[in-house]
Amino acid sequence: FRAGAKEQALPLPPLLKDQNTSEGITAYTITARTGHTEFIRGKQAETAGYNGAFLGPVLRMKKGDEVTVKVNNQLGEATTVHWHGLEVPGSADGGVYGKIADGTSWQAQFKVDQPAATAWFHPHLMHETGKQVYKGLAGLIYIEDDESTKLAIPRTYGEDDFPLVLQDRMLTEDGQMPYKLTDADIMYGKMGGTQLVNGAVAPTLTIPKGLVRLRVLNGANARIYTIKLSNAQFFWQIASDGGFLPKPVQVKELELSPAERAELLVDAGSLHTGDIFFLQNGGDKLMTFKVGKDAKETYGVPESLVEPERLKPEKAVKRRQFVFGGMGKYVNINGKQMDMNRMDERVGLNTVEIWEISNPSAAGMSMSHPFHAHGVQFQLLSRNGGPPPANETGWKDTIHLRPDERVEAIARFRKPGVFMYHCHILEHEDAGMMGQFEVK
Ligand code: C2O
Ligand code: CU
Repeated sequence: FRAGAKEQALPLPPLLKDQNTSEGITAYTITARTGHTEFIRGKQAETAGYNGAFLGPVLRMKKGDEVTVKVNNQLGEATTVHWHGLEVPGSADGGVYGKIADGTSWQAQFKVDQPAATAWFHPHLMHETGKQVYKGLAGLIYIEDDESTKLAIPRTYGEDDFPLVLQDRMLTEDGQMPYKLTDADIMYGKMGGTQLVNGAVAPTLTIPKGLVRLRVLNGANARIYTIKLSNAQFFWQIASDGGFLPKPVQVKELELSPAERAELLVDAGSLHTGDIFFLQNGGDKLMTFKVGKDAKETYGVPESLVEPERLKPEKAVKRRQFVFGGMGKYVNINGKQMDMNRMDERVGLNTVEIWEISNPSAAGMSMSHPFHAHGVQFQLLSRNGGPPPANETGWKDTIHLRPDERVEAIARFRKPGVFMYHCHILEHEDAGMMGQFEVK
């Protein structure tokens, strides 16, 4: 919490209205633009957002929908928009390709072909991702399907189902938010001492006295969060990046590296109206929960959720290694930095592969790197030689590798095209800790 910060209610990103009323067809328009945001009372920071001054709306879609998203660029500079977590063809993926010049638009077209999940979108222009996301360009995508809508869990947006986008920023004394990288930022990624939730400093949310669903995105450029509740309450993780877990996993704290998502259930049913507790990152307060009136709908924590189809290791036709290396501006994967003129890996369409990702510490330098690949969802086969933890037994598109960790992940590459894999510390990605693969 920072002196002078405004006291405010948790901002709720608007649910974007579908412009096509036909069943099974969804059409959205988003406009990337600049604006001003008051993080500190009376001080206006220069920021950017989709359809607003900071962050963007929630795009809702259903499995099977044919979706078009028109993206207008009014940023005053080029951008791209990547649908992080969506299994869509490379032509619609909006990675480093699909550049949208200032003053022009781009239309992404795809069919939603994956289970219910909380995904997100953000810019991905070569060398500019860190800056553009930092300025505020990011938004959430909610995918629903027949199974998710049948689960007896909270689902009313803004009443018992809330998005929480966690970010940290470095604000100057006069409330500005410049993106300037120090040597430490180049080494560890850009972090700051001001914690934002949905773009607000230490906001307050009144929740019903009952079961509450939180869809948490680590939207920070580089910070790893360890979230917990100040009243030491347990909560349950029900979904990871790419969908529901087989069953709720009870936790007291949860680590989330940049770009990871977790859906949580928090039980405020045994608390009292007027009670207050905090969401914390370690010991730091991120936001306040205030218990309000009885929930309109009562839910229990379900016994089971959704069992994902299991990919079998014996179906894998190939094993690839991805090794994080280097530091500062020399960060790399497999000793190489991103080069748009070089195809690093070629994957057969619809084949199953095992990707072995490792993060050996070298020469006294060790840090965490979150591995992300586009257009695909993974299942973890192992972490450090053992079975994956319970909350990593669902679909994952961002895999956190702490120093000296190693993960085996299996995936079926169902969408054709050119995609990226990279570290999701955005300053590492921008420095070249990225490669590309083609599926065909
Ligand atoms: Cu969230 Cu390649 O990105
Ligand atoms: Cu990294």
